[in-house]
Amino acid sequence: METKIKQVDTSVWRKKPLAAYEADMKKSELKRVLSRWGLTSLGIGAVIGGGIFVLTGIAAHDWAGPALAVAFIIAGIACTFAALCYAEFASILPVEGSAYAYSYGTVGEIFAWFIGWNLILEYMMGATTVAVSWSGYFEKLLHLFGIDPPLWLMNDPVTAQEKAEKLRAAGEVIPDFTFAVNLPAFLIVWVVTYILVKGIKEAASTNNLIVIVKVATVIFVIIAGAFFVDVANWTPFIPDPVVDDSGQTHYGFDGIVTAAGIVFFAYIGFDAVSTQAGEAINPRKDVPFAIIASLLICTLLYILVSLVLTGMVNYKDLDLKAPVAQAFADAGLTWAVYLITIAAIAGLTSVMLVMMLGQTRIFLGMAKDGLLPKNLFASIHPTFKTPWKSTIFVGAIVSVVAALTPIDKVSELCSSGTLLAFAMICAAVWILRVREPNLERPYRTPALPVIATLGILANLYLMYNLRTDTKITFVIWGTLGLIVYFLYGRRHSNLNNPSE
Ligand code: ALA
Repeated sequence: METKIKQVDTSVWRKKPLAAYEADMKKSELKRVLSRWGLTSLGIGAVIGGGIFVLTGIAAHDWAGPALAVAFIIAGIACTFAALCYAEFASILPVEGSAYAYSYGTVGEIFAWFIGWNLILEYMMGATTVAVSWSGYFEKLLHLFGIDPPLWLMNDPVTAQEKAEKLRAAGEVIPDFTFAVNLPAFLIVWVVTYILVKGIKEAASTNNLIVIVKVATVIFVIIAGAFFVDVANWTPFIPDPVVDDSGQTHYGFDGIVTAAGIVFFAYIGFDAVSTQAGEAINPRKDVPFAIIASLLICTLLYILVSLVLTGMVNYKDLDLKAPVAQAFADAGLTWAVYLITIAAIAGLTSVMLVMMLGQTRIFLGMAKDGLLPKNLFASIHPTFKTPWKSTIFVGAIVSVVAALTPIDKVSELCSSGTLLAFAMICAAVWILRVREPNLERPYRTPALPVIATLGILANLYLMYNLRTDTKITFVIWGTLGLIVYFLYGRRHSNLNNPSE
């Protein structure tokens, strides 16, 4: 294909020539070590985590009741549309950088930048949220062994003070403290960073092991839990709607949709497979396979876990912090609590691993295109062949934010960025089908106009249903992204020098 461009295109809608992707792939210094099931394992590793182990409690207790499984089905459908579109893109452009890279070649620079900027919310805020969830489960594990570290060592400053006040109000003696840090969250991020700097192969084998433990535990929850289901807990399956003081509707159909927006977080990560295309042995076929396979496997597991959980415990009595472990504690299976807690800790570690890995690969894609500083984000370690500086940078931000920030709502912020990225990817794959109908597509999304339209609508609808402050924060983040684009990205884009 002819790649030369005669004039500099200064439009914000300029596109990266598709042939340039092929050149990038040839130049890639990353090792191609990931197989079809290795990629699927990465996908599952990124998906099963805080969503199923933590958020199911609040989603059923406050919003969906026993219809939690319906919320999982709705969120799963929105993700399936996006996954089918992702898969076609991944088969055409098997490069690292994910949705960002795909849309740069099809829709235009500013659109691609905006997707990349949203993916930062998905991956970095996702990893941050999960690091704090990890710390919560780790604390539970220490507690099971009779160790209770001080609040100021296990929580960010704001949360630590809030917890201390509550405990004091309940009559406990909690000494004053002026400083607090979520030390476990901080440290686990650095452990993950170390693994990632050392190399994708090591990261992939660690991940495979964790994924086996995690999936085995989820299957155990489904099978063992099924014996403790009391069908009376499923009636009424959809509790009558209740409107709270702020006008929000709990339960009923509206409550289920809100719950779908919350449990959407549980699905985030299947798209991380597409960020690793640069390291896949046979990316054109295996990345689409892995995206769809990891999503379908997790959807099935989630629906079954939801049914078992709401059948074991009445939704009104579900624990909000560790609902799955607590359901087994209530059933008298104390040993299962150890198993689930340990699996959750391992499972959350692998989510962080893939999220942070995905983030560095997106940065790498953006930096190679000149939209971010190359010396920081595209510098590959001579021995490990990993983007080590970028990995340490991501580790530093995630660890500090996780250690010091109260992040109750960060999961929603993470979801908002992801939902918009999903809607944008559905649009972009359709645009490319119209613009370049003859491109080789090893995987073609079936009934694309229908799937893409439904994907755009479903993801935007879930985004619309998020809380108002999440939407405001999201607008601020988006505005900041555009400022950075005009101050840095646009000026340094490789497309300013088409001869290179
Ligand atoms: N899907 C991931 C989780 O549930 C982000 O933790």
